[in-house]
Amino acid sequence: MAFYYTEPSRTFSEFLLVPNLTTKDCNPSNVSLKTPIVKFKKGEQPAFSLNIPFSSAVMQAVSDDRMAVALARSGGISFIFGSQSVESQAEMVRKAKSYKAGFVVSRSNLTPSHTLKDILELKERTGHSTVAITDDGTPKGKLVGIVTGRDYRLSRDPLHKQVSDFMTPFSKLIYGKAGLSLSEANNLIWDHKLNCLPVVDEQQKLEYLVFRKDYDEHKENPYELLDANKSYIVGAGINTKDYEERVPALVAAGADVLVIDSSDGFSEWQKETIQYVKSNFNVKIGAGNIVDREGFLYLVEAGADFIKVGIGGGSICITREQKGIGRGQASSLIEVAAARDEYFQETGIYIPICSDGGIVHDYHITLSLAMGADFVMMGRYFARFDESPTRKLKIGNNFVKEFWGEGSNRARNWQRYDTGGKQGLVFEEGVDSYVPYAGGLQENLDKTLHKIKSTMCNCGSTTISELQKNARITLVSATSIVEGGAHDVILKENSISGE
Ligand code: IMP
Repeated sequence: MAFYYTEPSRTFSEFLLVPNLTTKDCNPSNVSLKTPIVKFKKGEQPAFSLNIPFSSAVMQAVSDDRMAVALARSGGISFIFGSQSVESQAEMVRKAKSYKAGFVVSRSNLTPSHTLKDILELKERTGHSTVAITDDGTPKGKLVGIVTGRDYRLSRDPLHKQVSDFMTPFSKLIYGKAGLSLSEANNLIWDHKLNCLPVVDEQQKLEYLVFRKDYDEHKENPYELLDANKSYIVGAGINTKDYEERVPALVAAGADVLVIDSSDGFSEWQKETIQYVKSNFNVKIGAGNIVDREGFLYLVEAGADFIKVGIGGGSICITREQKGIGRGQASSLIEVAAARDEYFQETGIYIPICSDGGIVHDYHITLSLAMGADFVMMGRYFARFDESPTRKLKIGNNFVKEFWGEGSNRARNWQRYDTGGKQGLVFEEGVDSYVPYAGGLQENLDKTLHKIKSTMCNCGSTTISELQKNARITLVSATSIVEGGAHDVILKENSISGE
């Protein structure tokens, strides 16, 4: 006879947090949202922590190199989507890693024997107005000059003019020496009224460019998530099919954390993938998605560094309709968090868990943390921002951004849904949609973070682990859900015509 759960599976909107005593020192400015992302032993520090408990979904419509930089700058992590060629995913990782908190590996480079035409074409392609001129045209070659818009006049200079004839040569450049700090670089930029400062080593080889505008942004981001070289921490999605090809390329490109992206992670393929990665590379790897204790323990025993929870709750997801597979996100999380705590008691090893999909309101994030998640993964939330890779369109009077599921015909990420049969996407498990455009990531994130911190104060907690221990959570009836919104009033936006 089949096994029946006695409780219905529940989701976030069916729960509320009940306040605890808020002491005077418990205010949002004292709240830390620092959280582990990979497993660690009791008494030790995890190899990576996030400064905010947010990750962006492994999706074409969400996580490219631009989102990775923007989110790491704010303290979270992106997992760059894997439903693209190995080369283009590795290139995105490389690009994101090349941002070094104000120090940027030059991305527009030519040699002195190129021409003005080449400069203009490069500018058109990349949008960069500063071109580094190196002896071999590579970003790390010997720096021989710089070209900016101030070095040529289109009305006067012929297109075939050689770069060496109009670049600002190295002898006339103000430059920084390798190892200088960002504030030293900034002093040079200000003292000499520069827009860009090249940094070179003793052999005059180009290391980085520091741009005036990046310094200003860096100063505003105290939470940014950096590795030991001051590059941003970057994650990448992999699958259980081409990992022998994909993982080496991603590791070589500098990916810090990998995650196996799958709609159902309770499988022998995931075990094999984790074991391949663990025995060949020194890189962290998360696995999932699972929704119960058995799935959790299976992937932990296989060696996963964190576990992702959630099947069928994603905003663009139609897995439950198509296959009848899934479980309410809150029920999944509560069971997996209990298994994680038990595992920690028994072994002294803490396995972070990530709640993936189905976050609709900001308070759902706080609830998922209170229920035991260490961080959340979101698609829809991030897809709304300028930094997501999709087009912004105007529909009627409203701006929207495109947003499609990995299991939609548009993404055709069959590896994510593969159950070992026919290769390719036989039926869809996701939709193609729009989400309301919401502006820039930072301003939205600031608001969400403030809400989370305020709620944590209501719950008498200044850290996520305190929240997990102290939170009191209640189920709500259908009637009290109605009571939770504005009710029995006439909202002003619908106000009476003629007034
Ligand atoms: P959201 O934050 O509710 O938009 O959920 C995002 C999550 O949905 C992702 O992190 C994936 O786990 C999941 N997902 C992405 N694409 C699809 C799809 O096409 N079908 C089902 N689930 C998907």
